[in-house]
Formats: sequence, C-alpha cells, structure tokens
Amino acid sequence: PSSLRINRPIVLVGLMGVGKTTVGRRLASKLRVPFYDADEEIEKAANMRISEFFETYGEPAFRDGERKVIERLLSGPPHVLATGGGAFMNDETRALVKEKAISVWLRADLDLLVKRTALRNTRPLLQNGDPREILENLLKERAPTYAKADLAVDSMEGPHNRTVDRILKKLA
Ligand code: S3P
Repeated sequence: PSSLRINRPIVLVGLMGVGKTTVGRRLASKLRVPFYDADEEIEKAANMRISEFFETYGEPAFRDGERKVIERLLSGPPHVLATGGGAFMNDETRALVKEKAISVWLRADLDLLVKRTALRNTRPLLQNGDPREILENLLKERAPTYAKADLAVDSMEGPHNRTVDRILKKLA
C-alpha cells in the first residue's frame, strides 16, 4: 500500500487496450480506495453488454449514459475510476472530470494497443475494419484531447505494476 492520501477521485483516460481497468484496480488497492469501471457501471445500469448497447441504442445514447454514470460516480468519495476510451472526448464529460478529479492519461504506442485489444475482441468500435487502422486513426484523432488530462503516464510492455508505480510517483 501507498501512504499517499487522495482527496479527489483519480480518473484514468486513454485508448482501449491501454490497461485502464487493470491499472486502475491495482492503483485503487494501493491507495485503499474503491475502484470503479465506467463501462462496467453502464452495463449494470442498462443491464446489457456495451456491444449490445451500441447496437440497440447507438453511440450518441451510449455517450449520454456514460456521462451520467461518470457524473454519479464523481459525486461520491475519493476513488479510482477507469473510463471507456471515448469518455474524455465528450466535452461535457471532460469538463466534469476536469472539475472534480485528477485525470491521468495512460499512453501507449500503437503496437501495444493492437496487441492488447486483440486479447479480448469485444470492442464495438473495432468490429468494422482492420483494428490496427482503426486504432491508428483514433490515436491521431484523440491524442490532442487526452493531452488535456492533468497527468500523462506511459504504459509499456511488461507488468502493469510498473505503470501503477509511475502514477503514484507523479501523484506524490
Ligand atoms: C470506447 C472504448 C470502450 C467502450 C466503448 C467505446 C471508445 O472502453 O467504452 O467500446 O470510444 O474508445 P475501453 O477503453 O475500456 O475499451
């Protein structure tokens, strides 16, 4: 455990596959605060998988649900929150996160993102085309916005614990 005490939620942002959920869970356990995963909370609230939600209601409705879930979580006591890769792209969601939390951009290069997303092929945004091309475009398109997070930390090949330690160092 870390002796660090946080007084605001920590929100992890970044592309799918970068490790927000795994890193977030371990970071929360080191800080001894609860961990939440926005995607999981949306699935619970809607009682369906994200892929099903996209298919049934479309992306704009998903972004709306995502913002509501994040708003609810951020109004609670300090915690670590992993967000879906598109959450921080939404102006309202980003404003909320910037106001109420410390945001951390988890960064990784394209090769690593391709490798990690291939392990679990459930992302609706990667279904219609070549995942590498899609991820490359998303990275280009989103990086300038992710860069608005309070901190940026590199997630590299190898154990996620190293990433967690890098975040803790930057927070201290
Ligand atoms: C999305 C990322 C996903 C999920 C949805 C949309 C995105 O979350 O919210 O499929 O727009 O990048 P992960 O980043 O946890 O895969």
